[in-house]
Amino acid sequence: MRILFLADVFGTAGRTAVEERLPGLREELGVAFCVVNGENAADGRGITPRLADKLLAAGADVITLGNHVWARDDIGPYLAASERVIRPANVASGSPGRALAVAPATDGTSVAVINLLGSLFLDVASGFFEVVDDLVEEARAQTPLVIVDFHAEATSEKIALARYLDGRVTAVLGTHTHVQTSDARIQPGGTAAITDAGMTGPHDSVIGVEAELAIRRMRTGMPVRFRPAESGVRIEGVVLDCDAEGRATAIEPLRVEHPG
Ligand SMILES: [Fe+2]
Repeated sequence: MRILFLADVFGTAGRTAVEERLPGLREELGVAFCVVNGENAADGRGITPRLADKLLAAGADVITLGNHVWARDDIGPYLAASERVIRPANVASGSPGRALAVAPATDGTSVAVINLLGSLFLDVASGFFEVVDDLVEEARAQTPLVIVDFHAEATSEKIALARYLDGRVTAVLGTHTHVQTSDARIQPGGTAAITDAGMTGPHDSVIGVEAELAIRRMRTGMPVRFRPAESGVRIEGVVLDCDAEGRATAIEPLRVEHPG
């Protein structure tokens, strides 16, 4: 079974690329299941119900989020009702939404998706190691095909979690830094991993934001309103193959230029 994972979809440019290209990509690559990280879909911060519906309509089977999960006011009730748009597990336990989705691939096989936040520089209610075992167990009770989107800043945390889950999940895929790393690999226990799958959005930027604005904020320390950049659009992520037992057999980084 082939699974496509699209890394952080950023702003209008990233969303448009997914809407225009994802149906064709699914077809060309023979993808049976697609996970999209949509945490930067709404102007670079968070996602709205309308945009989540658009990404699902474009071919995402499950949408994962990240540290900007609550950036948009109307997302709480939507997450409370949604079975396919999930939030990180280790935000406050009283918040709406779920952190595990199980959905069918095109051949009917169930695929589980888990979303977690790292600790470094991110606002979390509990550490990811406190919640991950129960979540993985809950997922594996339903299917051996388990994809983890680990939304985190630190390479060390990402590599540690990938090693910790080796043999228990199909893949541990890092997101959040928006820079694709060159360490896609299959670990000894059969779990695929990449430290960061990259960004689906405008790469002529500072991780999605208009470069001049990001630089001005850093140079002056003054508040500067960020705008998503528009050019250098690339779809990034990974293409993953796995067997019926959920063991990864291949992982390839994906980079597709998308001239606007
Ligand atoms: Fe993020």
